[in-house]
Amino acid sequence: MVILRVRGVTFRYGSVEALRDVTLEVREGEVVSIIGPNGAGKTTLLKCILNLLKPAGGVILIEPHGNVAKMWGVERAKLIAYTPQVEAPAAPFTVLEFVLLGRKPYVGRTYSREDLRVAEEILEELGLRDLALRRVSELSGGEWRKALIARALTQKPKVLLLDEPTNHLDLKHQVSVLELIKKLSRTKKVATLMAMHDVNLAIRYSDKIIALKKGRITYCGHPNNITANLIKELYEVNAEVIKDSNGVPVIIPKTA
Ligand SMILES: Nc1ncnc2c1ncn2[C@@H]1O[C@H](COP(=O)(O)OP(=O)(O)OP(=O)(O)O)[C@@H](O)[C@H]1O
Ligand SMILES: [Mg+2]
Repeated sequence: MVILRVRGVTFRYGSVEALRDVTLEVREGEVVSIIGPNGAGKTTLLKCILNLLKPAGGVILIEPHGNVAKMWGVERAKLIAYTPQVEAPAAPFTVLEFVLLGRKPYVGRTYSREDLRVAEEILEELGLRDLALRRVSELSGGEWRKALIARALTQKPKVLLLDEPTNHLDLKHQVSVLELIKKLSRTKKVATLMAMHDVNLAIRYSDKIIALKKGRITYCGHPNNITANLIKELYEVNAEVIKDSNGVPVIIPKTA
C-alpha cells in the first residue's frame, strides 16, 4: 500500500531551481534512498514533504489522509517524523526527556504513562535504555544519531524522513542504524525515505533507489540495477560495479 505520494513537485530558492517535477512514492514498510551529489536537492525534497518548504508546483499526499499542505501542524506531526542532516544535541535534556519530545503532538499539558511507555519501549529497541538518564550533550555521535531516530519513532509516524542517517557514524554504527531502520520500517509499517551519500550502503539497505541530479530524478528503481553509467552521470566518477556473493552490486570508484 502506498503511503507517501510526491507528484510533480517543483521548488525554487529565488532564482535557484532546486527541484523540478519530482514524482515518487513510498509504500508501507518500504525503505527508499535518495542518492545524488551535493546540492542535488535531497534535503530540499525532504523539507518539502515536511511542509517546511512550500513547493511552487505539485502535490504531496499521505494516504489516506491527503495533502500535507492542507493539514494542521499537529496532524502532520503525527504522520511524519524527520531527523535532520545536522542537529547539535540540545543541551539540558536527558536522553529520555529528549525522546519524549517526540510525543509532543499527542500530549496535553503533561506526559501520560502511555507517552512514557512508548518512549521507554523505543529506547529499549534502540539499545539506549542504559543511557536514558544521560544528558544528550554527553552522547557519542552514534548514540546521538540513535537518540534522534528514537525521538522520530516515538512520534509513531506513518512516514519517516531521514537526512543522512549514517553521517558521522563509524562502520559498526552505520550498519546497526541502517539495520534498525529497515527492521523498524517493516515491523512498524512505516514508509521510510532517506537521503544517503554512501551509495553502497544505500544499495544494501534500500528496497528502492531514487537518484537526484540538479533537482531532477534521473533513476528510480531496484538497487540491483544501479550501473557504472549512472554513477558516472551522477557523480562524474568512473566506477566498476561488481556483485558480492549475494548478487548485490558493489560500487568501486576507479582512480585515474
Ligand atoms: N536556503 C537556501 N537558499 C538558497 N539556496 C539554497 C538553500 N538551501 C539550499 N539551496 C540550494 O538548493 C540546491 C539543493 O540543496 P539541498 O540542500 O537540497 O541539496 P542536497 O542534495 O541535500 O545536498 P547535500 O548532499 O550537500 O546535503 C543547492 O543548489 C543549494 O545550494
Ligand atoms: Mg542535504
